[in-house]
Amino acid sequence: MQALVMTGPSRGSDLTEVGDMPVPEPGEGEVSVDVSHAGVNFIDVMARRGEPGYVTAWPFVPGKEVTGTVRRVGPGVSGLVPGQRVAALTPSGGLAEVAVAPAAVTVPLPDDVPSSLAAAAPLMLTSALLLLTDAARLGAGESVLVHSASGGVGSAVARLVPALGGGRLIGTVGRADKVQAARSAGYDTVVVRDEGMGAAIRAAAPEGVDVVLDPLGVELLELDLEVTGPGGRIVLFGNAGGGEASPLPPHPRLMRGNVGIVGFSASALTAGAPHRIARGLSRVLDLIAEGLLDVPVTVIDSLAGVPDVHQLLADGRGSGKYVVRIA
Ligand SMILES: NC(=O)c1ccc[n+]([C@@H]2O[C@H](COP(=O)([O-])OP(=O)(O)OC[C@H]3O[C@@H](n4cnc5c(N)ncnc54)[C@H](OP(=O)(O)O)[C@@H]3O)[C@@H](O)[C@H]2O)c1
Repeated sequence: MQALVMTGPSRGSDLTEVGDMPVPEPGEGEVSVDVSHAGVNFIDVMARRGEPGYVTAWPFVPGKEVTGTVRRVGPGVSGLVPGQRVAALTPSGGLAEVAVAPAAVTVPLPDDVPSSLAAAAPLMLTSALLLLTDAARLGAGESVLVHSASGGVGSAVARLVPALGGGRLIGTVGRADKVQAARSAGYDTVVVRDEGMGAAIRAAAPEGVDVVLDPLGVELLELDLEVTGPGGRIVLFGNAGGGEASPLPPHPRLMRGNVGIVGFSASALTAGAPHRIARGLSRVLDLIAEGLLDVPVTVIDSLAGVPDVHQLLADGRGSGKYVVRIA
């Protein structure tokens, strides 16, 4: 089968190519999927950089989310049958003609949800939903601050907050040329991350924001704490810059602010509580089917176009969500 293969760690796309790989077979509790569409994610770039924990071995086939039809079911799987349309969160290997996923995070795809849009659901939309619900416990009318607002997850959050009854949306972006994309995604206020950022956020939410979604490691944690109001929750869910893990602030700092810091990892949830991922994935697919959620996606025609998209994401030049058509 054809797959996107990374042959070693690199900051560029020089070691990524479309190549032939053996068709993977499902093991116990797994299904294989004939992939129709696959989502492209920043996590693929983290794997390409060779960051610890993202690559099991080289050559490596990246890809965390797919739609398609069930090809084969492994031992112990019930409720899924060959030929059934599904969406699945793959541990890796999604950017390929055939991918294997745990059955526990593979859900039926409603008939009226397009495969191309649904390919943005298993990782991106599900993470955006669970960040707001399970992790941040978003309440009615609460304000939300999101860093890297114009990217995939940032755009998805902007669509979900109104659907969940949330309030004011504030986004930050790394460069002025991303402001318009974040505004189009639905942010009420967009702030470029420069020295005026704290003042601009405080002006937009004078009583403090209720929820902060932060994928930038702990780089901005002190600012997050400053702009969060009493009872607020800060969710840490990424490390885009790839910096070293740093300690969290001492507990008196959290007590003084009356704030909480929460972590979120879709991969860790898949390992420890896959039903939460499956429930989130089914819910976003239902919201799409009911016409309550729509996220613009840029569809790439073939796997050969993916290395360029990875480079766009690596350079921080991506906008919104990218999905590749495979079959
Ligand atoms: N924990 C989880 O389960 C989970 C699930 C999905 C995604 N994530 C994380 O959420 C973030 C967004 O994911 P996405 O797929 O939607 O990607 P994305 O937003 O399209 O791309 C990542 C964004 O990170 C920002 N960035 C900051 N430092 C960067 C650096 N050194 N190199 C490149 N970009 C940098 C850039 O935006 P600005 O310049 O505007 O900041 C860039 O556009 C990523 O960090 C990803 O790892 C985590």
